[in-house]
Amino acid sequence: MEIAIYQLIFTALLVSTFTDVSGNCIFPDYLRGHWISSSLGEVSFNSTYLDGITAFTFGKLTFQCEDNNGTKYFLKSETTTFANTKFTAYVCLDLRKVTEDKIYYYRATTKDKSFDNERIIVTSSTVNVSMEEVCNEPEPYNPGSYSLLIRSEVLNTSEITCPNIVRGEYEVTNITKDGTQECPSGISLDVCSVKTHLYFNISSCSPDIPSATRCMFATETDNVTYLTVYSDTDNKFRCVAASEEGNTVFLSQKEGDCSENQNGTSVAPLGYLMELMLINNGTAHCREVVTEGPNNDKPTTTAPPKGGAEAISTKWVIPMIAVLTTFLQFFASL
Ligand SMILES: *[C@@H]1O[C@H](CO)[C@@H](O)[C@H](O)[C@H]1NC(C)=O
Ligand SMILES: *[C@@H]1O[C@H](CO)[C@@H](O)[C@H](O)[C@H]1NC(C)=O
Ligand SMILES: *[C@@H]1O[C@H](CO)[C@@H](O)[C@H](O)[C@H]1NC(C)=O
Ligand SMILES: *[C@@H]1O[C@H](CO)[C@@H](O)[C@H](O)[C@H]1NC(C)=O
Ligand SMILES: *[C@@H]1O[C@H](CO)[C@@H](O)[C@H](O)[C@H]1NC(C)=O
Ligand SMILES: *[C@@H]1O[C@H](CO)[C@@H](O)[C@H](O)[C@H]1NC(C)=O
Ligand SMILES: *[C@@H]1O[C@H](CO)[C@@H](O)[C@H](O)[C@H]1NC(C)=O
Ligand SMILES: *[C@@H]1O[C@H](CO)[C@@H](O)[C@H](O)[C@H]1NC(C)=O
Ligand SMILES: *[C@@H]1O[C@H](CO)[C@@H](O)[C@H](O)[C@H]1NC(C)=O
Repeated sequence: MEIAIYQLIFTALLVSTFTDVSGNCIFPDYLRGHWISSSLGEVSFNSTYLDGITAFTFGKLTFQCEDNNGTKYFLKSETTTFANTKFTAYVCLDLRKVTEDKIYYYRATTKDKSFDNERIIVTSSTVNVSMEEVCNEPEPYNPGSYSLLIRSEVLNTSEITCPNIVRGEYEVTNITKDGTQECPSGISLDVCSVKTHLYFNISSCSPDIPSATRCMFATETDNVTYLTVYSDTDNKFRCVAASEEGNTVFLSQKEGDCSENQNGTSVAPLGYLMELMLINNGTAHCREVVTEGPNNDKPTTTAPPKGGAEAISTKWVIPMIAVLTTFLQFFASL
């Protein structure tokens, strides 16, 4: 409650201005327009600006493209003034185009404890920050750590054929959330009737998962398939990770993007774990007489994962202490 009030006060006090016109990077044409991000909600691009990235405690800011190298874009925020101090935020996006209407991306900045483990750098506006310092996450990235962008106009129609690992009619057992079993008598999953949808039959119990989701994007790394699905019921993205062992498909599902190191048998709190067995003694693979989805983006394969380093760069501690001190002084004065 208190935090919500503070956030309202923050928002009310933020004064934003564009300072820097030095941005010399232009986004590719196809990026321009309105997009839905699996982690940020609505964002929009024009030739040099990206609106809608959440920056630390500052809320949503507008970022200008400063520099670009290959698929990486180095972005600098508008200046935010809070309690007479000017701050600038920097992010690095590694944008991977799937189609004109679909992109997956990584935040190519190392997580930093000084910034609440967000992949962002916030500093006093008087400090110069280079692309190298911001695009500092080593590749290959953690494979499940991508977010998805879908052009708003085609969100309703841009599903793909769900990946093979889940194509079938399954009995779903051992459903757990935070170690607690739900639906002990099991549910079923049909990814045959419509090959672009996961249909869970949850009529017998009520786990906190939608019965219908559309497959939007899939990628496989080290025998783990990552799948982003979208529910038209609650308008939310979910991440599914699946791996196969013997006759069993292990599947996890959580709201939003995948959690760090999510796989078929491991997921962050509030995520679900479940086990899938083909019904009819393993014969219920789909026959290929099924409804075609409108689109069929090919799943892509990324390089193997690598443990993401989590560093505290002492360089930013001092600016952040300054930020926090300023905030505290401000609240003390209320
Ligand atoms: C691009 O977006 C920025 C930030 O929203 C805005 O200030 C600017 O006028 C836009 N430029 C064009 C050409 O639309
Ligand atoms: C662009 O990225 C490549 C590969 O990561 C790197 O070798 C090169 O130095 C970068 N170029 C610039 C101008 O930073
Ligand atoms: C920051 O960079 C600009 C342009 O490259 C330069 O003019 C300015 O002196 C630099 N400021 C600091 C504090 O290094
Ligand atoms: C998407 O579908 C929802 C519900 O089916 C509908 O209300 C909405 O207008 C559709 N949006 C677009 C852009 O077609
Ligand atoms: C059910 O799933 C939980 C969590 O994944 C696991 O610890 C447990 O061993 C499983 N039980 C059975 C009977 O497979
Ligand atoms: C869902 O499962 C119930 C039994 O639990 C069954 O009666 C019903 O027909 C199933 N619905 C669909 C759409 O398959
Ligand atoms: C993936 O699965 C194949 C076949 O089961 C196995 O040979 C390979 O070692 C696995 N790769 C990894 C990285 O686990
Ligand atoms: C899944 O993740 C857990 C925890 O990180 C790990 O112990 C396990 O080996 C992983 N399983 C697979 C199949 O990669
Ligand atoms: C199920 O399949 C296994 C091996 O594929 C077979 O040995 C078994 O007899 C089958 N059971 C039934 C009930 O069909």
